[in-house]
Amino acid sequence: MLVKPRHFIDTQDFSRDELLRLIELIRLLKAADKAGACPKLLAGVSLGMIFEEPSTRTRISFEVAMTKLGGHALYLKPGEIHLGVRESLRDTAQVISRMVDVIEARVLKHQTVLDLAANSQVPVLNGLSDYNHPTQVVSDVFTMMEHSAPGKPMSEVKVTFVGDATNVCSSLMMICTQMGMHFTQAAPARYQAPEAWRTIAKANNQASRGSLRITDDVVAAVSDADFIYTDLWWWVGQEAEIPDRQAAFMPTYQVNEALLAKAPPHAKFMHCLPASRGVEVTDAVMDGPQSIIYDQSENRLHTEKGLLVSFVYPRLRPASPTLADYHRSLIEDFLAR
Ligand code: CP
Repeated sequence: MLVKPRHFIDTQDFSRDELLRLIELIRLLKAADKAGACPKLLAGVSLGMIFEEPSTRTRISFEVAMTKLGGHALYLKPGEIHLGVRESLRDTAQVISRMVDVIEARVLKHQTVLDLAANSQVPVLNGLSDYNHPTQVVSDVFTMMEHSAPGKPMSEVKVTFVGDATNVCSSLMMICTQMGMHFTQAAPARYQAPEAWRTIAKANNQASRGSLRITDDVVAAVSDADFIYTDLWWWVGQEAEIPDRQAAFMPTYQVNEALLAKAPPHAKFMHCLPASRGVEVTDAVMDGPQSIIYDQSENRLHTEKGLLVSFVYPRLRPASPTLADYHRSLIEDFLAR
């Protein structure tokens, strides 16, 4: 009988120790991959990748991760399957999860990934919703660990997110405070994290001894930062708000050389990408010596391998060689008749 699946919808569903164990697995898989020795732990396994929105990093990293682990990924692009159209979401989730071993879903509404998980017989991994982006931020914390001074504990790491309270900002706020890091969001009041997010982050801090600061003073926010992170100022569907958002963020909250000069010299620049060069960040910062954006992107691949192994490998129940031989003989005998 199949074990009831555990899903990866929100880092808040996992303890700090579980997240650290996942990050250690990612480190091991990256090292194995760099040595040309990625183990085929998921041979014969299929991943269904549901995308309601386009994607470069999430789509490619999950698909390549499956190939490297010996499995197979199906790209189910926007409009390609019946997802709540001509068929209930519940039926789609039930059917897909009887055919594949794991589902990754990028959805427009967070409720969709919750409903998929509630009706799936296999693990569902959240590849971004309008609320959060947990796979991105696990990868980001791994990247921060790689780029922190050796031996620097997480309790001394300061992360400043400059800009809108996006889904990435939400997840970053949660995971940083879970880890005991010090998280700041710098944005105009109207674009700051809602109270509900702050409540969760403050509860995390009670356990982790991390901290949360929300401010409109961007210079103070970057002045002690180890990592300065930004994201798009608007997304698909927010086009009507572009003039207001431009006016609110530009030029004060643009991550440019002048702002980076206010940060410690060791501070690193991060962006989940895609970026609007010349809007929330300049070319000089994106391509400058403090930028780690491409390491960050590459680590999505190693993170997806870690997630897939972590959520799928323990569920695999390969038949014993005796049982496999028995079935093979039955089928070969039938074919020989
Ligand atoms: N950061 C990220 O999720 O990128 P994509 O939208 O390209 O997947």
